Amino acid sequence: MNVLVTGGCGFIGSNFVRSVLRQKSNCRLINLDKLTYAGNPENLRDIEDDSRYRFVKGDITDAALVEQIFTEEKIDTVVHFAAESHVDRSIAGPAEFIQTNIVGTFTLLEAARKSWLQDGTGLADKRFLHVSTDEVYGSLGATGYFTEETSYDPRSPYSASKASSDHLVQAYYHTYGLPVLITNCSNNYGPYHFPEKLIPLIINNALNDKQLPVYGDGKQVRDWLYVEDHCAAVLRVLEKGTLGQTYNIGGNNEKQNIEIVTTVCNLLDEKVGLRDSGEPRTSLIRYVTDRPGHDRRYAIDATKIKDELGWTPAVTFEEGIRKTVDWYLDNPDWVAGVLDGSYQDYYERMYGNR
Ligand code: NAD
Ligand code: TYD
Repeated sequence: MNVLVTGGCGFIGSNFVRSVLRQKSNCRLINLDKLTYAGNPENLRDIEDDSRYRFVKGDITDAALVEQIFTEEKIDTVVHFAAESHVDRSIAGPAEFIQTNIVGTFTLLEAARKSWLQDGTGLADKRFLHVSTDEVYGSLGATGYFTEETSYDPRSPYSASKASSDHLVQAYYHTYGLPVLITNCSNNYGPYHFPEKLIPLIINNALNDKQLPVYGDGKQVRDWLYVEDHCAAVLRVLEKGTLGQTYNIGGNNEKQNIEIVTTVCNLLDEKVGLRDSGEPRTSLIRYVTDRPGHDRRYAIDATKIKDELGWTPAVTFEEGIRKTVDWYLDNPDWVAGVLDGSYQDYYERMYGNR
């Protein structure tokens, strides 16, 4: 396989690249990443010298570059992670979300269409896997689950941009026969998660004796999925999924935000002791103004991927959150580097603007 991974320097993409290189000897991986604030080649420093791996700094909306990579590297597989991924940022400034998530996905689809339909090698060994989110389905009440049949009802600029990209991917399957697969997963957590998202933000703030912002009443529910479980599911869909199909991927771990914040506080108290003031870290919790259009509950019914492809999550929330907290405790330099941009400066010098 000659795989183009987009967004491989981000949270999930970097975990995916590492796990594929570990498991598959017969693949070449090209990682195309723009290195936005969320992308750090540092996440892959341990594998960057692997001869099966190549990093290309670039934008998925750059059609000429994407086409060049398809030709040069004889790409037969795309695993598309690159996106603007943070809901709060999409509320503050949606433009980048439209560009990267919609126009970027379109650019990749076009490159695949041109390359694969014209190169005469046929579509049999080609795959275009688009990684998306359960947020496209909107918000649930107290009961019910998102299935692959749930109607799309995105509420934030982020989820609307992802929904739009999902529709484009489906359209390329129906219109051009492009061999696509779509995955819609729930909230991931684990190592290399940028500390603007709930779990790493709370870990980092709690360690630094900063306030812990909980939006609204803190009773919103997310279905937490350990990132390594997600990566295993994506690989399973890539290898065994039926073309044109969507697979929902969930962690079977519904938790209210306030439970997450409290759990992280308690774990840190246990591992590094109470705050200097002698108070537990839960004393840092502050209820703050709610996010506009805040979705109340997400929960995935992952029956299809279990029944058809035999995938279920292996990591319980209790295990996953301990591993995650330990990783952040062991990697303070990573957190400092991604927050102050020093990794960006280092790689800018190394890779320049190519
Ligand atoms: P992330 O923000 O950590 O990483 C995104 C990566 O994409 C970064 O490396 C960034 O530099 C790169 N990128 C952004 N714009 C680019 C562009 N124009 N060209 C090339 N590269 C670009 O995101 P993540 O959390 O790893 O999410 C990966 C994918 O999974 C996204 O498509 C996201 O919508 C989806 N997803 C994430 C979650 C989650 O909980 N994190 C849940 C569901 C779905
Ligand atoms: P987030 O990690 O941004 O993921 P998403 O919005 O894609 O689900 O947020 C997870 C939940 O945590 C969401 O309900 C919003 C909430 N949240 C807070 O309460 N405080 C925070 O500081 C952040 C970043 C999120």
